[in-house]
Amino acid sequence: MAPDKVPMGRMFIDDEMMDAAQRILASGYWIKGPESKAFGAEWAEYCGALSGTPCSNGSVALIAALHSLDVGHGDEVIVPSHTYIASATCITLVGATPIFVEIEEEYYTIDSAAIEAAITPLTKAIIGVHLYGQPMSTDVYTVAKKHGIPVIEDSAQGHGGALNGQRIGSFGDIATFSFFPSKNMAVGGDGGAILTNREDLIQRVSTFIDHGRSDKYRNDVLGTNFRLSEIQCGIGRVQLKHLDGWVDRRNEIANRYSEAFSELTHIKTPKVREGATHAWHQYVLRVGDREAFQSHMSSMDISTGIHYPIPCHLQPVYSEHPQGKRGTLEYTEAVCDDIVSIPVMPLLTDEEVQRVIDAVIAWVP
Ligand SMILES: Cc1ncc(COP(=O)(O)O)c(C=O)c1O
Repeated sequence: MAPDKVPMGRMFIDDEMMDAAQRILASGYWIKGPESKAFGAEWAEYCGALSGTPCSNGSVALIAALHSLDVGHGDEVIVPSHTYIASATCITLVGATPIFVEIEEEYYTIDSAAIEAAITPLTKAIIGVHLYGQPMSTDVYTVAKKHGIPVIEDSAQGHGGALNGQRIGSFGDIATFSFFPSKNMAVGGDGGAILTNREDLIQRVSTFIDHGRSDKYRNDVLGTNFRLSEIQCGIGRVQLKHLDGWVDRRNEIANRYSEAFSELTHIKTPKVREGATHAWHQYVLRVGDREAFQSHMSSMDISTGIHYPIPCHLQPVYSEHPQGKRGTLEYTEAVCDDIVSIPVMPLLTDEEVQRVIDAVIAWVP
């Protein structure tokens, strides 16, 4: 019998998650209960942040972060164009303008020199993305501090990553996470979290996601319902216990790939920043002729992905944006044309990892 196709993702579900879901369901406490409080606190502690607030997903976490920093109409927010679209659309949704900048050549995360060049008197915040699980450079925070501009760490792909011994999610003014099913850690549905190290933002964040409420029938400030359910928080607490093991396994697989592909001159392998624990949400190659590479991999029963084929500034939603044309961010555009992601999720078997390696090595461009 032919082996199954090696997938890009595979769900982790265990008895403890099932028990948690059943126990919480039976408790009748479905929202705003002990699980949300515990999950927020445990997630913040894990990442080394002062406070954590679970929320509905990583996209609204970004909106909540911008709102808490008073970003709105007339403001500019600097963001890399090479990211998932939510990193940019959150800015537009609060009425501000995204200013798209380049990424670092080797690491694909936001370039601090490009940030500095893009700062204007209207710059109200910077959103940096720990893309693929690679921690962004500490130079980002240094530049931001020099100009007195807050940093939001979009950590949707960074669970468990660290730089110089400090975890992703504890560097900036606010950090946002996604627990979408394919992420390094999940909650049994959509989910997200907002972390902060700033005392003055803790209350703002937690009330914003709960209708600005100070009491059941009293709404002091503008807010809405971005809460996460108790069942999902309970599942997240179980998944958190596995995260370190999963990140270790992702590193093991990524190291096997990088070693196996080190002699291949027609493929560019990803680099790890010095001092970093890469979270390896994605293992991304640059392959030149991507279409040919993907059809070769598919013919060998290996799934691949593209993260992402269209940079944000070239998405139709930004066709009216002053930067919304080809040639604006040449490096980003070139990267988006030939990147391809191969499976790196922790539930891959050693045999599947070997099949991926064999297939990549067998590719002749
Ligand atoms: C970098 C980045 N930011 C934000 C998000 C949005 O998260 P969610 O899908 O949970 O809304 C994602 C999810 O794919 C992401 O990868």
